Amino acid sequence: MNVLLASSEVHPFSKTGGLADMVGALGKALARAGHEARIVTPLYRGISGRFPQMRREDWYFDLPLGDRRVQASLWSLETEKGLMVYFIEQPDFFDRASLYHENNTSYADNAERFVFLAKCVTHLARYLPWRPDLVHVHDWQTALVPALLLQQRAAGWGNPPPTCLTIHNLAYQGIFPPRAFALTDLPLELFTIEGAEFYGHLNCLKAGIVLADVLTTVSPRYAREITTEEFGHGLDGLLRRRQKQLFGILNGVDYDEWNPAHDPFLARPYSATRLAGKTVCKLALQKEVGLPEGRDVPLFGTISRLAEQKGVDLQLGALEEMLNTNMQFVLLGSGSSAYERGYAELARRFPARVAARVNYDEGLAHRIEAASDFYIMPSRFEPSGLNQMYSLRYGAIPIVRATGGLDDSVVDFTENTTHANGIKFYEYSARALAKAIRKALVLYQQPELLRQFQHNAMKTVFSWEQTVQEYLKAYELARGLRKGSFPF
Ligand code: ADP
Ligand code: GLC
Repeated sequence: MNVLLASSEVHPFSKTGGLADMVGALGKALARAGHEARIVTPLYRGISGRFPQMRREDWYFDLPLGDRRVQASLWSLETEKGLMVYFIEQPDFFDRASLYHENNTSYADNAERFVFLAKCVTHLARYLPWRPDLVHVHDWQTALVPALLLQQRAAGWGNPPPTCLTIHNLAYQGIFPPRAFALTDLPLELFTIEGAEFYGHLNCLKAGIVLADVLTTVSPRYAREITTEEFGHGLDGLLRRRQKQLFGILNGVDYDEWNPAHDPFLARPYSATRLAGKTVCKLALQKEVGLPEGRDVPLFGTISRLAEQKGVDLQLGALEEMLNTNMQFVLLGSGSSAYERGYAELARRFPARVAARVNYDEGLAHRIEAASDFYIMPSRFEPSGLNQMYSLRYGAIPIVRATGGLDDSVVDFTENTTHANGIKFYEYSARALAKAIRKALVLYQQPELLRQFQHNAMKTVFSWEQTVQEYLKAYELARGLRKGSFPF
C-alpha cells in the first residue's frame, strides 16, 4: 500500500513529545512491512544543517490562504528503503526558534501555519506522481486534510484517497477564532455544529473527527475514555457517534532507538542478562547531575513535558512527603514555568536527594532511563505514553497511574503475580502516589523480587511489527468505507 503520513513533528527531525517518536516509527514499520510510506512535515530551523543529504525537489507550492497566496518549496530525504520524508520549506512560518510557542506563548499565527501545512499535504496527495492509497493524518495540525481532500473532490478530483486520523491527545484541538475559518477556503457549509465549528470557533481536530474515514487513538483504554464526558474535552458526543470507526491501537517502541544494549548515549551498555552496565549508568548519572554517588540508594526518574496532563502537582506533593526517606529523584522536563519553578525549588531544598534539569535534552533522557531503578509517571490522563514503555526496556520499574495507555502497558502485582512489571495506583492524589513510592521502596529491599520485576519489565515487548498490522487493518477498513454522504 502507498501511505502518505502527515505530522507537525517527526523524529529524528523535530520533536516536542511522543507524536514525533510515533510517526517516525510508524513510517519505518510500514516500509519494513513491505509498504511504501511518505511523510510530510515542516522544514523547521536547523533541520537542513543536520541532514545535509536532503534534496531539493523540483516542486513549488503557490496556494490560497484566505485573502492571500503563500509560496513554499519542497525538500525530500529517503531515510530507508520504502520511506521518504518530504519537508515543506516556508521560512516565514517554520524557520523559528521553536515549533509551536516561545516563552509559554503560542505563536499568534499558528492557524495560518498549520492550515497552510494541511493545504500542502492535500496538494501533494493530489498531484504527486506517486499516488497514495490512503492519507494518514495526526493530531489537530493536519486534521483539516480530510475536509480539504473532499473539497478537491468537489473541485473535480474524482476520487481522493480515504483518510485515517490518529488522535494522540484530545486535549489539543487547534481551536481558533471564527475568522480563522476563512484561511481554510472551505465552503461555509462546513462551519456548522455538524462540521468544524465548536462554540463559534474553528476546531481543526473536530473537522477531522467528522470527516476522516477512520479514527484511531493510541491505546484501547484511551479509545474508550474519550467517549466519556470526563475525558471527552467536549467532543465525547461526536466520538460516541463515530465509535464504530474509532480504534485504540497501542503505540509500539522503536527499539532501534530505545535499547540499552546498543544505546550510544549510555556510559555502558547492558541487557536483561548482563545487568552490570546498569549500575555503571546509575553512578555516571549521579555524577552528571550532581547527586551523591551510591549504588544502593534507590533512584527515581521522570522525563516529561511539564503540563497539567502529566500529574505534576501530584508528583510535587508526593515527593514533598517522601523526601525524608533515603531516595534520590531526577527530573528532566520543561513546560509551564510554575511547574519548572516547583521542581527547581525542590532541588534547592533537597540538594542531596533531588536534581532537576529544566530543559530539553535527548541524550540525558536516555541516560535517566538507564540509571533509574524506578520511573514515575503519575498522569491525570495519558493517551498512550511512551516513557513507561522505554522504562520497561531499560529496567526502570514504572510507577504509573492506571489511566489510558499507562493502564494498558504496565502489569501490577495485584493483576498478575508472575508477570508483574510495574506498580500502579488509581486515585488521583499525592497520597496515593506517595503510597506507590513506598511500595517501590519496599520492593527495593527485596532483591529477588526486584530482579523478577526487572526481568519481566525488560522482556516486555511493544513491537511495531505487530502494531503496524493493526494500522493496516484500519486502513483497509477506511478503503472499504468511503462514507456515502458528504457535507459539501
Ligand atoms: P507526550 O507525547 O505526551 O509528551 P510520551 O510519553 O508519549 O508523552 O512521549 C514523550 C517523549 O518526549 C519521549 O520520547 C520523552 O523522552 C521525550 N521528552 C519529553 N520531555 C523531554 C525533555 N525535557 N528532554 C528530552 N526528551 C523529552
Ligand atoms: C501524545 C500523548 C502521549 C502519546 C503520544 C504519542 O503526545 O500525550 O500519551 O504517547 O502522543 O502517541
